[in-house]
Amino acid sequence: MNMEHILVTGATGQIGAELVPLLRQRYGNDMIVAAGNRTKPSAELQQGPFITLDVTDAAAVRAALQEYRISKIFHLSSILSAAGETNPQLAYAVNFNGLYNILEAAREEGVKRVIVPSSIAAFGPGTPREQTPNDTIQRPTTIYGVSKVAGELLGNYYFQRFGLDVRGVRFPGILSWKVEPTAGTTDYAVAMFYGAVRDGRYTCYLREDTRLPMMYMPDAIRALIELEQADAKGLQHRADFNVAAMSFTPAELAEVIRKRIPTFAVDYQIDPLRQAIADSWPMSLDDSAARAEWDWEPQWDLERMADDLLANIRRKLGKQRGGREKGDEGNRRYTFSSHRLCRKSPSAIADVVGDEPTEQLCP
Ligand SMILES: NC(=O)c1ccc[n+]([C@@H]2O[C@H](COP(=O)([O-])OP(=O)(O)OC[C@H]3O[C@@H](n4cnc5c(N)ncnc54)[C@H](O)[C@@H]3O)[C@@H](O)[C@H]2O)c1
Repeated sequence: MNMEHILVTGATGQIGAELVPLLRQRYGNDMIVAAGNRTKPSAELQQGPFITLDVTDAAAVRAALQEYRISKIFHLSSILSAAGETNPQLAYAVNFNGLYNILEAAREEGVKRVIVPSSIAAFGPGTPREQTPNDTIQRPTTIYGVSKVAGELLGNYYFQRFGLDVRGVRFPGILSWKVEPTAGTTDYAVAMFYGAVRDGRYTCYLREDTRLPMMYMPDAIRALIELEQADAKGLQHRADFNVAAMSFTPAELAEVIRKRIPTFAVDYQIDPLRQAIADSWPMSLDDSAARAEWDWEPQWDLERMADDLLANIRRKLGKQRGGREKGDEGNRRYTFSSHRLCRKSPSAIADVVGDEPTEQLCP
């Protein structure tokens, strides 16, 4: 195999499932190696090379880089915030050791660039919460947040020490319709849209006034691709860019949905675990460093996103009602699992930690 390839780890996840098809459109199906762990891949992900790769297995990571002559990596494998708190040991293994394995193998195998998303979870209660600066106090109180700070520092270290070009953005909560999120703290926002379309109602696990920064998936994917392609000369930061698009509370989001579905009803049943996590995170972000260093600019605001999300969710649920589409297996868990998860106790989140096969989650 002579051509160099791009590897996407965590490819079956919320972001990976949308990044892989876009990269394949851009570079060709065969050039993008999608790596999943235990979730069955969708038919779409199998339109190019798909491998199973546990990132905690250093030898397997190195073998994959060698086999496919990988020149760039989008490392998306991670255990997210709420799931991390139910199994901190697994979060440590995947988020610390998995990232270390990727960076070490990338260094040894001469990979050119590694893109690693960080998160607003890299901030903590001591951080200024409004217009959180790019460079500020980072003392998070979740294992996920601790792993994100460590990941940013490790990425910067690998660049300074070994010249490995590691880059990353701190994502806010990401809304999307294709694959529903299941293990984070900001997932309520997507679940609220699904609840509105499917049931006309939604029970929210965060307080109605919990303001958090959010972003629509097309902006998130574009941020990753644009940062990957940014001219290195312009970059003062590396693995730690704030990126912002919008900020809202559950009550404000419900109001936006109600403008489009007037009978939509929301009630609140607070999950103390996720509320505590949300209360320790920024409410809005200052992303001027990303704007100045690689021309970052969001394109989606709340109103425009709401129209697009509702149209896509209606179409997706309509199709599923009319009979499941051939090759839709990979999306099945996203239809039900996050809503089941959102109604369950935090400990139930542990059921999905480690990416259990779909069939065990959804009867
Ligand atoms: N979605 C968001 O709102 C959001 C916000 C901020 C940051 N991020 C970051 O973006 C990245 C992608 O997040 P996502 O939303 O797609 O998460 P996700 O939970 O949907 O996907 C993560 C993927 O990691 C994979 N994984 C878990 N253990 C693994 C292992 N041992 N080996 C290999 N893969 C393993 C799983 O297969 C899963 O598909 C993560 O770094 C996450 O921290 C996401």
